[in-house]
Amino acid sequence: MGSQVHGTQHFDKAKRTEIKFSEEAMATVQKIISHYPAEKRKSAMLPVLHVAQAEFGGWLSPEVMDYVAEILRVKPIEVFEVASFYTMYNLKPVGKCVLEVCQTSSCWLNGAEDIVKYIEKKLDIKVGETSKDGMFTLKVAECLGSCGTAPMMQCGASFHENLTYEKVDKILEGYRADGKQRNYTDLDYKNTL
Ligand code: FES
Repeated sequence: MGSQVHGTQHFDKAKRTEIKFSEEAMATVQKIISHYPAEKRKSAMLPVLHVAQAEFGGWLSPEVMDYVAEILRVKPIEVFEVASFYTMYNLKPVGKCVLEVCQTSSCWLNGAEDIVKYIEKKLDIKVGETSKDGMFTLKVAECLGSCGTAPMMQCGASFHENLTYEKVDKILEGYRADGKQRNYTDLDYKNTL
């Protein structure tokens, strides 16, 4: 199998050899794969990418995607195509907390656009960027399934609903104060199997 993943990030062969799931993560991956018939191994890609993202710092580098391709016995480009399609996967390093503001109809009608602008101004970044202190990455997402409590945003494993500017201030202050990672590395996939 080739080792070339397409994308904007440079593929580092040396780094690739260092990429390896922990024993625990690999057990989770094998369990996920076991849910599918052997010839449909590729169908495990989404959950396996979640485990990979949680395991390797909240984003999927070309080396990590290559590794996942090897495990699923598919071409690296197939992993890249899936990972680059869904907003829940990051293809570049992210901050400690990833803020994903829903921008679909219910949230949009209830002021999501203003919330995004407010966060952009507050953190001095644009959508897709990370604050200078490395604390926050701002993203927008399609419907996150919480339309009745719009506008809302997801941050790692947490949902924040009925957002107002004041709520956003409190959430960001709280995150700064506790300093915890909320960039997908905080998701516990073992308990969802
Ligand atoms: S439209 Fe925002 S959660 Fe559904």
